[in-house]
Amino acid sequence: MKKIIVIAGDGIGKEVTASAVEVLKKVDAKFNIGLEFEDRDAGGTAYEKFGEPLPAETLDACKKADAVLFGAVGGKKWDTLPVHLRPEKALFGLRKGLGLFANLRPVKVYSPLIDGSPLKPELVEGADLLIVRELVGGIYFGERCESEFVDGVESAWDTEKYSVPEIERIAKLAFETAKIRRGKLTSVDKANVLASSRLWRRVVNELAKNFNDVELNHLYVDNCAMQLAVNPKQFDVIVTSNIFGDILSDEAAVIGGSIGLMPSASIGELTSLYEPIHGSAPDIAGKNIANPMGSILSAAMLLRYSLNNSDAAQAIESAVDKTLADGYRTADIFKDGFKKIGTDECTKIICDRI
Ligand code: IPM
Ligand code: MG
Repeated sequence: MKKIIVIAGDGIGKEVTASAVEVLKKVDAKFNIGLEFEDRDAGGTAYEKFGEPLPAETLDACKKADAVLFGAVGGKKWDTLPVHLRPEKALFGLRKGLGLFANLRPVKVYSPLIDGSPLKPELVEGADLLIVRELVGGIYFGERCESEFVDGVESAWDTEKYSVPEIERIAKLAFETAKIRRGKLTSVDKANVLASSRLWRRVVNELAKNFNDVELNHLYVDNCAMQLAVNPKQFDVIVTSNIFGDILSDEAAVIGGSIGLMPSASIGELTSLYEPIHGSAPDIAGKNIANPMGSILSAAMLLRYSLNNSDAAQAIESAVDKTLADGYRTADIFKDGFKKIGTDECTKIICDRI
């Protein structure tokens, strides 16, 4: 048996995760994987039930699982809570608690959706890149101060700090990933300004000596942001720090036309976690209109990375491709002339194609 902890979370996380579980059950029946699902709470939903966004029981269950399927957390209702009780805190607790050091965000351009891209079709057609974002270090987890007064003047600060082992760990995974893709790695930093970036670049260059078959280049983050919009096809794998990866991955996600389709994998030392990159979208929650494809494609990544089952992963990815090619569109990607579908119908159509 392969145990999967399912954390649907808040907002549309609930709907899209239910869809992904349905799809996983379909591939399980077809490929005889032996999946076993267990639900756990996190985020605002967990706060309502247990008074905290990440109950210890949830984290423990994740640690013992083969993989975690995550939906989304957050909502207006909880925005005014103190920082340590906010739903986002569950994300950081899971990232740190499971040691999810690498966040993989693939950006694929689906030809049937190309006119949904904000960029010209000829710029994006065929673009296929992967952002490898460091996820448990840097300014997200560095020392910070919410407020301090010096001579009556208030300041707040955060720190960006990276150690050699932290950089080596993420860079190694990025080199290895590039090696089995198209052999190109772009390391992104701000080495013209930041000391932490200069160390980052030095460590990446040192590691490159072990990967002669990977072509490495370095870009400053501002230039990379521009290059993603000007010529996204130049990229294969991008490796970068926590905060730069956060920003660049949102930018990269829209290249393909919709953030609703983008999956992600957060790779840990023991268990890994899979989640769509869109958030909890409280405004459309419970209306059966959310696009479940991001979550369903995250389930495909789960099969590939945590269960080493690329056939089952491929079956899901092909079913999503086919659903789009057949003209079915959820509201976020709908255009006149196509068949408009809701979350449930989309799930069923994908299952029928597996
Ligand atoms: C992401 C999100 C989170 C992050 C937020 C919700 C804290 O933007 O996963 O990219 O900044 O890491
Ligand atoms: Mg983000």
